[in-house]
Amino acid sequence: MSNIGSYEHHLEDFDSEIAKRELDWKEGELLNIGHMCSDRICQRGHGDRTALIWEGFGDKSARYTFNDLRVLSNGFAKFIRDDLGVGVGERVCIFMDKIPSLYLSFVGVLKAGAVAQPLFSAFGDESLEVRLKSAGTTAILTTQKHVKKVRKILDRLPDLRHVVVVEGNPDKLKEAERFFDVEAAPRVEEFDSFRADPESRSVIHYTSGTTGQPKGAQHVHNSIWSQALTAKWVLDLKEDDVYWCTADPGWVTGTSYGIIGPWALGVTQAVLDSGFIAARWYRFLQDHKVTVWYSAPTAIRSLMREGEEVVREHDLSALRHLASVGEPLNAEAVIWSEKVFDGKAFHDTFWQTETGSMMICNYPGMPIKPGSMGKPFPGITGAVLDLKTHEPVTEPGKVGLIAFRPGWPAMFRIYWNQEDVYRSKFVGQTDGRTPDELRTADDLWYVSGDRASIDKDGYYWFVGRDDDVINTGGHLVGPFEIESALIEHEAIAEAAAVGKPDPVNMEVVKAIVTLNPGYEPSGDLELSIMNFIRKTLSPLAMPQEIEFKDKLPKTRSGKILRRYLRALEWGEDVGDLSTLEED
Ligand code: WT7
Repeated sequence: MSNIGSYEHHLEDFDSEIAKRELDWKEGELLNIGHMCSDRICQRGHGDRTALIWEGFGDKSARYTFNDLRVLSNGFAKFIRDDLGVGVGERVCIFMDKIPSLYLSFVGVLKAGAVAQPLFSAFGDESLEVRLKSAGTTAILTTQKHVKKVRKILDRLPDLRHVVVVEGNPDKLKEAERFFDVEAAPRVEEFDSFRADPESRSVIHYTSGTTGQPKGAQHVHNSIWSQALTAKWVLDLKEDDVYWCTADPGWVTGTSYGIIGPWALGVTQAVLDSGFIAARWYRFLQDHKVTVWYSAPTAIRSLMREGEEVVREHDLSALRHLASVGEPLNAEAVIWSEKVFDGKAFHDTFWQTETGSMMICNYPGMPIKPGSMGKPFPGITGAVLDLKTHEPVTEPGKVGLIAFRPGWPAMFRIYWNQEDVYRSKFVGQTDGRTPDELRTADDLWYVSGDRASIDKDGYYWFVGRDDDVINTGGHLVGPFEIESALIEHEAIAEAAAVGKPDPVNMEVVKAIVTLNPGYEPSGDLELSIMNFIRKTLSPLAMPQEIEFKDKLPKTRSGKILRRYLRALEWGEDVGDLSTLEED
């Protein structure tokens, strides 16, 4: 029997206290995500249960019980609060590979009452700088492997008071840097965790938009209710599961469902910190008898490419539930997974950094229509809004904007220092309302920035983004970031970045540029541009191709028509150019 039982039944009986009842949480108990993911599990008699099974490159491996997680996260919390003197609400960046200290420090930062700001370790120094500057981050936890990037930008970050290295050789540190190896530090049995208010800030995740620099989506401790309930009902997590979320906590999937949701339920998580190799992934599933697996379409398509033979070489009989997020999960991938994983199909889920928890899902027990994202989670009012009038579409199959009534616990509270951009995500009467009033209004819609249609049975079908953001392998890349990097190059006059089709990553970045007088297109120039932007951009945002053009199509007011360029790449009908020309 699945945890959710009947989806239809919960549509009827859902109320805002249901998550607390499911977690057996009583008013007056401490609300703090860090505490609830560790101490509370121990208090309930599960201290000896494995919290984390970890494997890294080579043969490195480690295992932690919930009691280990409790005392080691206490160690981080005490260090952050007492030794560094980081105050409540200050941002602490966690910048490291998927090593155990990432998970332990994340829980510790929250216990200390600081805001966790996890960033993907592959970010280069400029990607890092933009995000640390924006958040006014005061401390960064990193490793010897990545600290060089922090050193490069330190002078430009006046708020960044503490650089802490949690793994490596302490003798290699610079003077102002601190070393803190949680394994070598004394185990801290008692720590008085920050008594969070439901609205106390917890995690900040940066996400890319069409314009401007990445935006910091701010979350709060109250998010745990949405995250734990969706982990229970959608991922179907049960106490004896071994669960693997393949996402990096630099992205929201890796925190909402790679840390918070599952640990709030006391579930064992497995983490593999190594690149993508199909046989390695299957061996990991086999060796740890993974039962529930949450991954992403690009990974699934990469596995498909490796074929069925390698699947059959492994014993994956422990697997019982599969789910996916991040980009469109094509019907072929669903059908393939059902065939090779013995009747178990990947269940697509749709959500965003901003939503903090799953919004539209396929549920255990509910028939999957391959290619569909499923239906809104109980308690969530979803709709597809007419592209022009912004009224909910009632006609099955008609394409509109995916929107939700605001106010679920895990919804982001603000874009850090960008209230106007936050405000622009709502449609309806927004004037004169505070950010909190927007979030709790029952007459407004939060608009996701994606297009979809709803069929006669209420299933949602993804159509595409409503903006120019490129989703490559599940990672959102803002064209503005790429274009800004490109036009810094002396040869480039103008630049546009668009997605072009790719069989595995769904789309990859393509740059289209015009050159300054005196420059001619050539292979050498392309190489020089690539090398130049590689210094600025994260590997994920790097264009696969640069096309040289004499001029770029523009609107009447001079904005580059990315949508037109994108349509050309996709072989789509570009339609009437005059409508594209409107701003
Ligand atoms: C964007 C959000 C939240 C998890 C990871 C991404 C796209 C997400 C799906 C899906 C088609 C999807 C949307 C969305 N997306 N899930 N199941 N089918 N597209 O978080 O980086 O904030 O990206 O990813 O475009 O808006 P994110």
